[in-house]
Amino acid sequence: MGHAHGLASPVTGRAGSALKGRIRVPGDKSISHRSMIFGLLSIGETRVEGLLEGDDVLRTAEACKALGAGIVREAPGRWRIRGVGIGGLSEPAGILDFGNAGTGSRLMMGVAGSHPITATFDGDASLRKRPMRRILDPLVRMGVTVVSEAEGGRVPLTLRGPRETIPITYETPAASAQIKSAILLAGLNAPGRTTVIEQEATRDHTERMLRHFGATVEVAPHGEHGRAVTVHGQPELRGTAVVVPSDPSSAAFPIVAALIVPGSDVVIEGVMMNPLRTGLIATLLEMGASIERLNEREEGGETVADLRVRASRLKGVTVPAARAPAMIDEYPILAVAAAFAEGTTRMQGLHELRVKESDRLAAVAAGLAEAGVPHEIVGDDLVVHGLEGRVRGGGRPVATHLDHRIAMSFLVMGLATVEPVTVDDGAMIATSFPTFIPLMRELGATILD
Ligand code: S3P
Repeated sequence: MGHAHGLASPVTGRAGSALKGRIRVPGDKSISHRSMIFGLLSIGETRVEGLLEGDDVLRTAEACKALGAGIVREAPGRWRIRGVGIGGLSEPAGILDFGNAGTGSRLMMGVAGSHPITATFDGDASLRKRPMRRILDPLVRMGVTVVSEAEGGRVPLTLRGPRETIPITYETPAASAQIKSAILLAGLNAPGRTTVIEQEATRDHTERMLRHFGATVEVAPHGEHGRAVTVHGQPELRGTAVVVPSDPSSAAFPIVAALIVPGSDVVIEGVMMNPLRTGLIATLLEMGASIERLNEREEGGETVADLRVRASRLKGVTVPAARAPAMIDEYPILAVAAAFAEGTTRMQGLHELRVKESDRLAAVAAGLAEAGVPHEIVGDDLVVHGLEGRVRGGGRPVATHLDHRIAMSFLVMGLATVEPVTVDDGAMIATSFPTFIPLMRELGATILD
């Protein structure tokens, strides 16, 4: 990858023919990280099908190996993990380098921090800017020692786990599945019950997988949109089979591309339809998108569907803040759809976007500005004034700030703009969707790298 050599690799998206055909996007990133982690924490063997082989997940696999797991790749997407069981982690010999991955690093802080070992976490320039206090604060309450940390509670940081982890009840200050998951995973190695209360329900893959691997989890409603999730500590997790469904957050890019490129008609197969992940689809349907859910079925404990998407005239809508957790990674690509819509789209309550792989609010606004799309940031809201299908594009290369989703969003934009759109660096796309460029080309997209 370009970054290994300190070189950025610009990529350009350019308008061409209508997009046509059927594709399958890679496995879900959230479930792929968790497959490795649950494999590590289980006794016996876990077999994974459809694993996302993106850089983020491979870093988590390396970390799991460093903590004692035996991990073998048998075929593309097919992996076997031999676990050590809860309580059985060994101290890693070197630094755990998570690259660009917030999910991998934060979940593994809960895992390693709840064991009587010392572990150091680090990552790339993007991860080094991201807030880790939100994970360290509850872990300290569980008895974890923060031996050292970079200024402001960031990586590189070193944790030392207690001899016995303390079970807690914790109300998360942010709607974040990463915070919830780090605590629940730490709670696995604590005697008694650990409860996380969230004001807004976030993706529930950790809860589902805990049950799938044999733990006892209780979920109760909390307030209007929230939940209280309790895990019973020190279960014996048993290695099992995991089938990873396709990632709706990756499917989001071809979905919006098909909507905005005139004449398009595509099918994206086997996309996970977990209701805590489908906020983008709900929003696009409200905007008037033609998206059909075909052939709904169960795969690996999740509902999946083939999505048929046809080019559509979109209209602006207001996206309520309460929907943010179900589409948190999809705002950059929604902003692209909104640029092509008729009228104004208001996306409310986006403060969490400021602490993703980049400050996505600022990065999206800067990209829209380059392409000539009128917009404002009002408090934590992003307001995009749609140009009814005629977006200029062009401008200077969009600054991606080591953020895969900024890169893919603006490449998709360029497939429908008058002038091509260039992003300054496509290298990070490999963190979550390594086959993005070939799959988009298969549909007929013109992407130049
Ligand atoms: C994820 C949770 C979300 C999301 C990230 C994956 C997860 O982060 O943005 O891409 O797998 O738990 P937050 O929990 O910080 O919102």
